[in-house]
Amino acid sequence: MQQSKQWWKEAVVYQIYPRSFYDSNGDGIGDIRGVIEKLDYIKGLGIDVIWLSPVYESPNDDNGYDISDYQDILEEFGTMDDLDELLAETHKRGMKLIMDLVINHTSDEHEWFIESRSSKDNPYRDYYIWHPGDEEGNRPNNWESIFGGSVWEWDEETEEYFMHIFSKKQPDLNWENPEVRQSLYDMVNWWLDKGIDGFRVDAITHIKKKPGFPDLPNPLNKDVVPSFEYHMNQPGIGEHLSELANETFDQYNVMTVGEANGVDAKDAKNWVEEENGYFDMIFQFEHVNLWGDNQGLDLVPFKQIMTRWQEELDGVGWNALYIENHDLVRAVSSLGDDGDKRKASGKALGMMYFFMQGTPFIYQGQEIGMTNIQLDSLDEYDDIESVNRTKIMIEEGIVFDEAMEYIWDNSRDNVRTPMQWDSSEQAGFTTGTPWLQINNNYVDINVQEALADPNSIYHFYKKMIDIRRESETLIYGSYELIEADHPAVYAYLRHGEDEKYLIVTNLFNDHETMDFSDYHFEELVLSNYLVTDELKTEFTLRPYEARLYRLSK
Ligand code: GLC
Ligand code: CA
Repeated sequence: MQQSKQWWKEAVVYQIYPRSFYDSNGDGIGDIRGVIEKLDYIKGLGIDVIWLSPVYESPNDDNGYDISDYQDILEEFGTMDDLDELLAETHKRGMKLIMDLVINHTSDEHEWFIESRSSKDNPYRDYYIWHPGDEEGNRPNNWESIFGGSVWEWDEETEEYFMHIFSKKQPDLNWENPEVRQSLYDMVNWWLDKGIDGFRVDAITHIKKKPGFPDLPNPLNKDVVPSFEYHMNQPGIGEHLSELANETFDQYNVMTVGEANGVDAKDAKNWVEEENGYFDMIFQFEHVNLWGDNQGLDLVPFKQIMTRWQEELDGVGWNALYIENHDLVRAVSSLGDDGDKRKASGKALGMMYFFMQGTPFIYQGQEIGMTNIQLDSLDEYDDIESVNRTKIMIEEGIVFDEAMEYIWDNSRDNVRTPMQWDSSEQAGFTTGTPWLQINNNYVDINVQEALADPNSIYHFYKKMIDIRRESETLIYGSYELIEADHPAVYAYLRHGEDEKYLIVTNLFNDHETMDFSDYHFEELVLSNYLVTDELKTEFTLRPYEARLYRLSK
């Protein structure tokens, strides 16, 4: 079905995790001026939109996802003038800038929370979720926080608990309070009036909690129980989200992408439907949850998930496409090969998702095939989620080595190590001491090397971006899965008006013989290996080989 044309559907987005991108002043922390200095690099890759992870005032309990002032910039990152300059310089280069919008919770150091916790009759009391506890004064329920431990924190001052779905320094806002919502809308519009081009909306499926906060079933009699089903995508959330969109985004020509854990492909229609959706697109979690246990790529169910999203939204709404972000691990390490097939697998994974229907997102470093890291001790890790979880494991008696294995495989620090710019000391990221260790493979894996090598992952991404930009079919065309049961090869078609494309990617380290003799190959548009007999429809794919063909209708 035909999709309406929108600038954000044609765009490719690059995500910047500012702390790790580029340090302009030698304090070891990436900053806004650092982003400004690297804008030409981003433009050079062919990017249309930059998504900047949070740079707001924050005590950094969760690296900026705990905001203490929405309308100010964290000193380490720079000033509001720097931000204004970044916006202007981004626009000057014909790119757009979207910011991160973290409105499920604030920092406990936000003025609203400081007021709220000061007394039970403070006007801000109901900005957050307070509860006296059960009859004995124990925690109101057994819900587990996403970062481990209970979602409830006792507050001595007023002798009540407050709820935090994430860390205890990230109290949840009470979205049932209309004043909270209005305060947030005013803030959102302040940013939109400034001229930013949209938002990535953080953790937005958690804003509504199950009324009455009932206990979860607890057959194993655990202290706390994973609680997603009672605070994720709850009935009635749509009313809040429609209101948010009506009061803010819909008044501007901007792009929005909601982070939407817990939304499935059927439900997604409400979320991203062209006329009345809450967002332009959402980050779904089904595919990343599938590989979350780091078992590698289970390709057949993976294809089913991706295909469901492609089919459900075709002609209805729009997909956001991604394989990496600041909460995951590196794709070449977890899904591909970060050893001698790193380049081939980085390209194959890239091509696999890049030509689906939707807006592709690239996370900093993905375009040069950066890899996971293994730090020697727990102290060297920063990520609050994996550090908390590892500590809990050790407390529960899991042996240290196993706990370290866990953090190596799962820590979000895997993707947060500083960007590797060149082979000089500290990878050209900083002249000081970096806030998080640099992966010592920077000597081989870095931007300078990638720019110089015509066969780099970087140049492959650049070509993919150019090819996609020139093709209506690759942007708007419908998707069709083929070879659905093939355990190693992901192949699909994109259907255009008088052409089709075939994307075929071998996602494993074996040879796979394919037969596409039902199709008419017109042109091999892109591949990551040398192909001699370009239009031959029967061939053997080499390990991690990826090809894009243009076909006749
Ligand atoms: C989102 C962010 C993640 C953060 C969490 C709490 O999932 O992407 O980095 O820790 O929300 O704000
Ligand atoms: Ca700095």
